[in-house]
Amino acid sequence: MRPIRVLPEVLVSQIAAGEVVERPASVLKELIENSLDAGAAALTVTLDEGGIRRVQVEDDGEGIARDDLPLALARHATSKIASLEDLEAVATMGFRGEALASIASVARLAIASRTADSPHGCAIRAEGAYVGEVEPTARERGTTVSVEDLYFNTPARRKFLRTEATEFGHCEEVFRRAALARPDVAFTLRHNGRVASHLRSQPHGDRAAALLGREFLHGSLPVEAQAGTLRLHGLAGGPQAARARADAQYFFVNGRFVRDRLLAHAARQAYAGQLHGERQPAYLLFLELDARGVDVNVHPAKTEVRFRDARSMHQFVLHALQRALAPSAAEAPVAYATVSAGPAIQAAFAMEQPAPLYRFDPASSVVSLPESEKAPPLGYALAQLHGVYILAQNEAGLVLVDMHAAHERIVYEKLRASLDAGAVSAQQLLVPAALKAEALDVATAEENREALARLGFEMSVAGPNELAVRAAPALLAGGDVAALARDVLKELREFGVEQVLARRRDELLATMACHGAVRANRALAPAEMNALLREMEQTERSGSCNHGRPTWYQLTLADLDKLFLRGR
Ligand SMILES: Nc1ncnc2c1ncn2[C@@H]1O[C@H](COP(=O)(O)OP(=O)(O)OP(=O)(O)O)[C@@H](O)[C@H]1O
Ligand SMILES: [Mg+2]
Repeated sequence: MRPIRVLPEVLVSQIAAGEVVERPASVLKELIENSLDAGAAALTVTLDEGGIRRVQVEDDGEGIARDDLPLALARHATSKIASLEDLEAVATMGFRGEALASIASVARLAIASRTADSPHGCAIRAEGAYVGEVEPTARERGTTVSVEDLYFNTPARRKFLRTEATEFGHCEEVFRRAALARPDVAFTLRHNGRVASHLRSQPHGDRAAALLGREFLHGSLPVEAQAGTLRLHGLAGGPQAARARADAQYFFVNGRFVRDRLLAHAARQAYAGQLHGERQPAYLLFLELDARGVDVNVHPAKTEVRFRDARSMHQFVLHALQRALAPSAAEAPVAYATVSAGPAIQAAFAMEQPAPLYRFDPASSVVSLPESEKAPPLGYALAQLHGVYILAQNEAGLVLVDMHAAHERIVYEKLRASLDAGAVSAQQLLVPAALKAEALDVATAEENREALARLGFEMSVAGPNELAVRAAPALLAGGDVAALARDVLKELREFGVEQVLARRRDELLATMACHGAVRANRALAPAEMNALLREMEQTERSGSCNHGRPTWYQLTLADLDKLFLRGR
């Protein structure tokens, strides 16, 4: 047995750094939080090489006094709390007094700062175990913390860093979260010498539009609920803003971005019945409560929280969101009817059971038709209704087809069959589609060439934030190829290639199929409608779309007679 030893201070910090300083983005998060705690009105983030080379945050906050500078770098030294009571009521982002010490132990760190009552600025540097002397420097009020060469002295960790583009993508996400939380603060982001984002101090809605897009803002419903000191406000994205992935879900608790199961669950439940199957809601929500009602000291990086009264928090969030999503009970069924055609039709025609003549045999999943019949099972198209439904006449009576849902199912089954056979057949595009992409998407495209080829894509890097789509799945090449590629990249980026091609394969194909399907409101010629009906008859499981909605209904003449009280 080796003797027990007390570890040197710098090694303790390096171990602690393992918990909080996972990658450049985690350094960025700590520095931004410190600037916000210092009351900054404007802050500028400067990154070099995705933050691997340099992460710097400059603010105009209250600054650090000369004598406090060495302390800022010491472990367990903080200006934010002094007692357990302070910890329980903490209103600042930081409180552990550890971030800068941890970062300094695994990088080269420099602080320059000036307080309002100081005649000049002061600077200090630290590197691993070494902490330099405080020196005078010229600067305005505020603080600049610069972190260079992350993991320069811990090469094993350095190996875990991904490409510059990937690390930049993570930094961008940290920046976005902070900027969403604090629209009152001006934020600037520079990467490799270029301004990537500049946001002035602005109202919540404008900030949300700037970062999440105008479409999100316009398609979302305002949330505002209050109970005592508890308040939930923000924006709940409507069904159109829903996405294939849970990547636009921003929940802030007292200004802190958190991933919390309880809150996510309440949100999912509030959206139940509003979204189909796997669609994920988009939202930007701020929960505010007395700091004593929530413990933020449960995770080293402070991305998780624990509520004192978890149950009532869940109920409060659930009800607040439900109210926002369906403002009055009377409106709810109408909203539902627009998304779910099947039940609405049933209700409208007051039928107990839809009774299609040509039933789907669950065993073979194909339309069965008596041998002697020559007329096609789904009949021939009569007209298109409101750009959404095809009306067709068959032997039994009237067939109603949701053309988008039906087409989507057909495209999906074709994609699936060709992927099963090896690869989705690709079509070279005469003019490559340009795709503005986040750095992380560009990296994802590069790292997953093979998988993309199997899915029918060929992409090349056209710039740090641009991809060129050179080939797309032949079935989908006529649509918005850029939007399609963006969705596929997001899926790959979020779940990784193995997952996407195995467990999530069907979801991915459904997402792709949705892009290829005829949009509602497109006028179809009778020949096109009939072609769709014929394809439906050929397609497995054509009775429901990939989201589980029915694709067609049969109204028999008997059903219609009943409707008109017409005895035969
Ligand atoms: N940008 C800044 N402006 C003013 N003071 C700062 C700034 N950054 C750090 N400080 C001071 O340095 C101290 C140490 O910062 P550090 O991030 O290490 O700890 P903390 O923020 O107190 O707690 P945590 O480890 O939870 O982040 C802070 O308490 C604060 O007094
Ligand atoms: Mg801090």
